[in-house]
Amino acid sequence: MDKLRVAVVGGGIGKAHLDAYLKLSEEIEVVAVCDLDLAKAQGLAETYRVPRVTRDLADLCRMEDLDVIDLCTPPQGHFEQIQQVLAAGKHVVCEKPLVGSLREADALIAAEAASQGRVMPIFQYRFGRGLQKLKHLVAQGVAGRAYLSTVETAWRRRASYYDVPWRGKWQTELGGALLSHAIHAHDMLTYILGSTKSVFARTATRVNPIEVEDCASVSLEFSDGSLASLSVTLGSPQEITRHRFCFENLVAESNTEPYNNSAEPWRFVGDTPEVDARIGAALARFEPLPERYEGQFFRFVRALRQGSALPVTLADARASLELVTAMYDSAQTGQDVTLPIGEDHPKYGGWLPQTVPAGG
Ligand SMILES: NC(=O)c1ccc[n+]([C@@H]2O[C@H](COP(=O)([O-])OP(=O)(O)OC[C@H]3O[C@@H](n4cnc5c(N)ncnc54)[C@H](O)[C@@H]3O)[C@@H](O)[C@H]2O)c1
Repeated sequence: MDKLRVAVVGGGIGKAHLDAYLKLSEEIEVVAVCDLDLAKAQGLAETYRVPRVTRDLADLCRMEDLDVIDLCTPPQGHFEQIQQVLAAGKHVVCEKPLVGSLREADALIAAEAASQGRVMPIFQYRFGRGLQKLKHLVAQGVAGRAYLSTVETAWRRRASYYDVPWRGKWQTELGGALLSHAIHAHDMLTYILGSTKSVFARTATRVNPIEVEDCASVSLEFSDGSLASLSVTLGSPQEITRHRFCFENLVAESNTEPYNNSAEPWRFVGDTPEVDARIGAALARFEPLPERYEGQFFRFVRALRQGSALPVTLADARASLELVTAMYDSAQTGQDVTLPIGEDHPKYGGWLPQTVPAGG
């Protein structure tokens, strides 16, 4: 079967995408790299032996032999770039956060439905084997009802991190720690527990002199009635990410590796020896697949070949942005926010505060 022919746009985190594609070279061939900074693109092309280089996304859209354009560009460009790629009839991979509003997310869902291309937002943390094992235990009916979950995203960002001009500003980063950093940890939570019913959030900017928040505390109620507590800071001298899910039959606890806590080891402790035996039996049937970006791209190729659902869909990204919208709405109004959020909600068109400086 022909290899999937991919172009990578943006040479920051795009490097991690290129590393992952290299590991899947039997299935995927990277044929072009693109960056506004042509020297950066040329450097990447040399390192990764990619034949074509350009600084213009439109050039990629005109390449007839290209199947997928992978957007690793800053968030404020995603909405138009995704539409441009779909209009060219190609598949899109796009880094998080997908776009800056639910209105834009819904417009992309409509654009995808009307085009032959498909859109896969990035949520590579989903594919760590620890989290996948919990997903498997829940699917096998071993976990039982969810009671309470806690998520801690305690990372460290120093002033130099904000030297990149688009970071730290509402207009260009579109949000702070809730949007840019904890979005993965919160997606991992909803990946397991499903949709959210209500949200209360407080945010603060205490670590760096930036516009957007770098600390947050959030209380959630899920549609199944279970509760969750989320804490986020970019000022933790020791970095950790930790998930703890308390279910009727078991507790699941991640490791605390800040940027890889969905990988193993995770601890699964049953309420009784009988549950422990069921956990063991279910995990004996667990099928380990590749993780992180490689894991997401591996499943992407498989889904395209089989015509099945993508490993992450626009609906998943919309759900993540719906939670973001609710958290910012709650933080800005001081109110509990009820989901789902539809067209009639005041923040359907975006969560940016009214007082954002023009031009960010
Ligand atoms: N999934 C993750 O874990 C993860 C990690 C880091 C960043 N990200 C996301 O990836 C995106 C990029 O972040 P980054 O840290 O790599 O940013 P960056 O600023 O380091 O790199 C972005 C690159 O894109 C290029 N670029 C910008 N606009 C372009 C355009 N229109 N055409 C071609 N090239 C263009 C820039 O020149 C730059 O080289 C952001 O949305 C960010 O949130 C995701």
